[in-house]
Amino acid sequence: MWSTRTADGLVVRAPAKVNLFLEVLGKRPDGYHDLATLLVAVSLYDTLEFKEDRSKAFGLDLVPQPEPAPREDRPPLSTGPENLVCRAAELLRRRTGHEGGARVRLHKRIPLAAGLAGGSTDAAATLFGLNRLWRLGLTRERLAELGAELGSDVPFFFSAPSAWCMGRGEIVTPLRLGGPLWLVLACPPAGLSTAAVFQALTVPAEPVDGTAVRSSVARGDVEETGRRLFNRLQPVAERLCPPVAEVARLLAGCGAAGSLMSGSGTTLFALCRGPEEARRIASQVLSAREKMISRAYVVRSCC
Ligand code: C5P
Repeated sequence: MWSTRTADGLVVRAPAKVNLFLEVLGKRPDGYHDLATLLVAVSLYDTLEFKEDRSKAFGLDLVPQPEPAPREDRPPLSTGPENLVCRAAELLRRRTGHEGGARVRLHKRIPLAAGLAGGSTDAAATLFGLNRLWRLGLTRERLAELGAELGSDVPFFFSAPSAWCMGRGEIVTPLRLGGPLWLVLACPPAGLSTAAVFQALTVPAEPVDGTAVRSSVARGDVEETGRRLFNRLQPVAERLCPPVAEVARLLAGCGAAGSLMSGSGTTLFALCRGPEEARRIASQVLSAREKMISRAYVVRSCC
């Protein structure tokens, strides 16, 4: 996570993530699923500006979006106590006894309910930012533990840019990328709830093994990684949200090294051999089927 001091506070940049591999190993007694997943942080960022508030209150403001993305069918983001930024601040205050206040301005760029962990990265950035702003002195490990209470993907962001994650997703083993990855993200206009996707899933009798993709990513072998991309949740999301299947077919025909849905959807990505190929595929995707895609981004893996 990246942060910089300003005159009266600090700014934190919160990256999105994609899953290059996601297998479901079983259903747990607590209702969650055990996963094996390979996560990579990418260069699509929310930014959060933190300032101390002398009134000791905590407040969240959204930077107004210049123009809504066309054809978007997603509920607006709330700034109330259920927002993960507010929940992260509240958790930090409760656990440390800190009584100071803060004002956060969130510039939201990562699409909601898109499988890109937009809410989780904001939660991680809030723990990270307030820990610095309030000089609490918590370690990254402690922040990641607190993050796990807020969402399964939150701890990853304290080990980003890439990691192999197990358990609910909160057991994180950092993984070094053998080289930069270039991706085109293609977002259908509608989102999906993670809980709904997991609920509709049949747990596989024989899970797919992720050892091969893990080592191809570590070697920087994009062709092999492209062949090994896998997401157990994709067929479920395609059933629940047919545009996911349409975008998947579109990306599969673009000539990229591979393509896949990220997380529980609905964003899909094409894994490209470099920035030129990524730019070509992004414009091909947008002009070919613009009605089924509301946003497309060329991104690279974070360093
Ligand atoms: O942890 P998070 O709040 O992001 O999870 C949202 C929902 O997704 C959970 O309530 C659960 O239904 C489902 N989930 C799951 N197994 C996981 C992660 C999430 O079943 N490993």
